Amino acid sequence: MEISVQDYARECAEQGLRGDYSRCRSDFTVEQSYDYSEAAQQVWRRLCDRQTKLTERLAHRSYLDGVAALGLLERIPDFDEVSDALRRLTGWEIVAVPGLIPAAPFFDHLANRRFPVTNWLRSPEELDYIVEPDMFHDFFGHVPILTQPVFADFMQMYGRTAEKVIAAGGAEMITRLYWYTAEYGLMREPGQPLKAFGAGLMSSFTELRFAVESPDAHHVPFDIETVMRTTYEIDKFQRAYFVLPSFDALRDAFDAGDLVRIARRWKDAPALDPATI
Ligand SMILES: [Fe+2]
Repeated sequence: MEISVQDYARECAEQGLRGDYSRCRSDFTVEQSYDYSEAAQQVWRRLCDRQTKLTERLAHRSYLDGVAALGLLERIPDFDEVSDALRRLTGWEIVAVPGLIPAAPFFDHLANRRFPVTNWLRSPEELDYIVEPDMFHDFFGHVPILTQPVFADFMQMYGRTAEKVIAAGGAEMITRLYWYTAEYGLMREPGQPLKAFGAGLMSSFTELRFAVESPDAHHVPFDIETVMRTTYEIDKFQRAYFVLPSFDALRDAFDAGDLVRIARRWKDAPALDPATI
């Protein structure tokens, strides 16, 4: 069932989320309204300077190539400018949203190669952790990798397929696929060191190092059925990270019919524990 902007705005306010949904269009987008204070620009530069020291060492090269192509570190990005560049590279664009949006419009944006990015930034007191996704997570974490053609195609396929998987009883399963790839995905190409590309890692000062460098991080070869069956927790370091051999492997594993079959087969079975897979 689709939720109206007004009802969703009320739910977010009740949960103490800070987005302003009063100017939302029916697809939950808003104007970016580029009127950030100098203090916000400083927070952006501090976050980018600090995190780039890690990503240069630990991020997959396609993410770093995306950062270079989009040039998003000097100041808070202008979404229209970035969309122009992204459209030329992979046909994606970014749209401003006030914060989290409901699943249905989120999937619809992905299916149409639009990535929703929160239009406000965390405060200086929240450099290390913020409860809800802000612009730094959405933008610094997710957007550079959308310049990678194969991953960009995967994200669109994901958006197109998610509702079908949910209809087959796989609401949690389709969310896990996003979680363990777009948010916490790792990559080890043949003969190359382990690297990260997921946005939850890219925007985390502490978990990026843990996921890639710690001997305590639990690395599991990517298998789409296992991914969809494995639970996760949102406010702790992941107890498993799935490792892809390539972006092609992710696209090749993605068969919409298969995802629906996986959902039907496992929807009533107990989920897998990430600590023991
Ligand atoms: Fe995210």
